[in-house]
Amino acid sequence: MHSILIIGCGSIGERHLRCFQRTGRCEVSACDANPGLLADVTARYSVPAHPGLREALAARKFDGIVICTPAHTHLAIAREGAAHGAALFIEKPLSVSLDGVEETRDAILRGGRFAAVAYVYHCMPWMAQAREFIRSGEIGLPLHASVVSGQHFPTFRPAYREIYYAKRETGGGAIQDALTHIVNATEWIIGPATRVFCDASHQMLEGVSVEDTVDVSARHGNVLASYAMNQFQAPNETVLLVHCQRGSVKVESHARRWGVLRHGESDWTWRQTPPLERDDLFITQANAFLDGMEGKATPLATYGEAVQTLKFNLAALRSSDTGMPITLS
Ligand SMILES: NC(=O)c1ccc[n+]([C@@H]2O[C@H](COP(=O)([O-])OP(=O)(O)OC[C@H]3O[C@@H](n4cnc5c(N)ncnc54)[C@H](O)[C@@H]3O)[C@@H](O)[C@H]2O)c1
Repeated sequence: MHSILIIGCGSIGERHLRCFQRTGRCEVSACDANPGLLADVTARYSVPAHPGLREALAARKFDGIVICTPAHTHLAIAREGAAHGAALFIEKPLSVSLDGVEETRDAILRGGRFAAVAYVYHCMPWMAQAREFIRSGEIGLPLHASVVSGQHFPTFRPAYREIYYAKRETGGGAIQDALTHIVNATEWIIGPATRVFCDASHQMLEGVSVEDTVDVSARHGNVLASYAMNQFQAPNETVLLVHCQRGSVKVESHARRWGVLRHGESDWTWRQTPPLERDDLFITQANAFLDGMEGKATPLATYGEAVQTLKFNLAALRSSDTGMPITLS
């Protein structure tokens, strides 16, 4: 049995706690700076409670730490976890600036344990299958990609005004909170972005001033890509199209399906994943992290991939602030 510490037991932390428990492969402990929340969560899941990271790491040895606090705190916690000798699973986005990124990379290397970032699209079968198909080269090289994505965020996160989402410095806004998932998945499929030109604005969400609407025109090496997202629309939908030399792939993430249409064909051939419970992807993700801790291959986003997506987030914010395209280093 692996010993796993969940730090930050808010919305996603509680889900991770429950889903790591559901793997049956680990003993889970919980840490949160909010005493009332910690008492409630630990009572409901019958797990040990720790009010702070230092106290938790002094109390016992943990094999793995799942970092579910707001993004501006991720890297400092990761370094403490690495020094403790734990494997690290860090929620997205990796951080809100590049400060501490290299220091943390060094700490992970020194710790010598598995580390990954929780971009959950890597655990969606339809994403992984579409990626594998595109990367097989069967329909040639990708040349053009477009993503259209959105949802009514207040329906899914009624507390958005009171959490990290309300401020850019804590990881808020559409770019760092939502677009980052899609960008990371697209980079996973077609390769890292190399140039970003972004327009973003606060259009609708009440009680916040961060951007809730984003348009990006990007280059991923030789592939042109466009991203359109807002967080107020009625449909909860994400569609990704990748057009290759001899045909196109479409992923309809909300419908759990992907399809291919080759030149000369008149309709899509779809591959459908059966209905899932919302926790299922997170249980798959927890199992993948435990696999990684055991030295097995996993589809999870690597630390390096998450650094690349962090650079995209920062470039998109800067581009939107300045009106200029940004080349990624
Ligand atoms: N992968 C996903 O689908 C997904 C979904 C939601 C959130 N997230 C990410 O997860 C992170 C957390 O988001 P959330 O929605 O759960 O936020 P949240 O506000 O609901 O929970 C964060 C918790 O962290 C605790 N906390 C903050 N600093 C702490 C510290 N130093 N030590 C201990 N506890 C601390 C807070 O008390 C709070 O309970 C963010 O980075 C967010 O982007 C990912």
